[in-house]
Amino acid sequence: PEENVFSYKGVLYPVLLCSPATFEALESFEARSDDVLLAGYPKSGNNWILQILNDLVTADLKKNKEALEERMKHEEKGDYTFLEFGDPGKFERIKKLPFRRVLATHLLPGCLPTSISKNNAKILMLSRNPKDVAVSYFHFSNGMPLLPSFKTWDEFFNAFVCGEVVWGSYFDYMIEWNKRINNKNIMFITYEELKENLILGVKKITEFFEFSMTEEELQAVMDRSSFQAMNENSHSTHGTFGNILFRKGAISDWKTLFTEAQNQEMERKFEECLAETKLGAKIMYKKYCK
Ligand code: A3P
Repeated sequence: PEENVFSYKGVLYPVLLCSPATFEALESFEARSDDVLLAGYPKSGNNWILQILNDLVTADLKKNKEALEERMKHEEKGDYTFLEFGDPGKFERIKKLPFRRVLATHLLPGCLPTSISKNNAKILMLSRNPKDVAVSYFHFSNGMPLLPSFKTWDEFFNAFVCGEVVWGSYFDYMIEWNKRINNKNIMFITYEELKENLILGVKKITEFFEFSMTEEELQAVMDRSSFQAMNENSHSTHGTFGNILFRKGAISDWKTLFTEAQNQEMERKFEECLAETKLGAKIMYKKYCK
C-alpha cells in the first residue's frame, strides 16, 4: 500500500484523493458563518448526512430561484465538498458561491483552517461506534481502487487499531474532537441515533443550522435519505462507487468479522482512549458493541 499514500503532519492520506498542495491551500481557506460543515471519521455515514444537508440547503433555497439555479450547476461538478479532496485551486472557485456551502472533512480538528472558528462557522460532528466503522472501512478499502487495499481482515484490523490507515487513528480522531465537546458551534451526533430516530436527528440538525423547513419539506428529505432510496439512486449520485458506498447501512455488522480476541483488543483500546470521555459516552459502546 505504501506507494498509494503520503504522510502529512504524521497522518496517512491517499495520493489519488489528496495532495500536500491542497492541504497548504486549505490553511488560508475563508470559512463563512453560514457554511454548513460536516466532520466525521471515514465510514461514519458521511455521505448519508451530506445528502440530508444538501437537501436541507436546497429546500431552504427554494425561495431564492437564482441562487438555487446557481447551486444546481455547481452540484453537477460536485468536486468541492470534501475540503481535503481535489486540486488546490478549488478554494478560489468556491469563494463567492451565492448560497450556503455544504462542506465536509475527515480531518482532525487541529488540521482545519482557523477561519472556521474565527468566523463562527458551525460544524456538525458525526461519529459511529469503532467496530462498525472498522468493518465498513475494511470492505470499502478493498472495494475502492483509490484507497490502499488489505489482504485480510486481520491485517486491516491491526492497521486500524494502530492508526496505520488513511486519515489516521479513529481513536486519536475521537480524542481530539472530544476536546471540543462543549463548543456551542459544534453539534455532536451519532450514526446510531440517526438510525434509531432519523426524524428527531434531522430536526435537531435543522435547528442547529437554522434552516426554515415545513413539515412537508422535512418529510421529503426523510424519504430521499432512507438507505434503500439512496442505494437505488447511487449510480447517479456517486457513479461507479455507488454500490461500494451503500453497503449494508446497519448497526452491528461487526459481528460478521470480529474474532473473540479482536473483540477484547478493541475493548481494551476503547477503555484506554475513550471510555472516560463525553464523546465516548455518546457513542454508547455498551449498547452497540456488545
Ligand atoms: P456500511 O459499510 O456499514 O454499510 P461514509 O459515507 O462515511 O463512507 O459511510 C458509509 C457507511 O454509511 C456505510 O456503512 C453505508 O452503508 C452507510 N450508509 C450510507 N447511506 C446510508 C443510509 N441512508 N442509511 C444508513 N446507512 C447508510
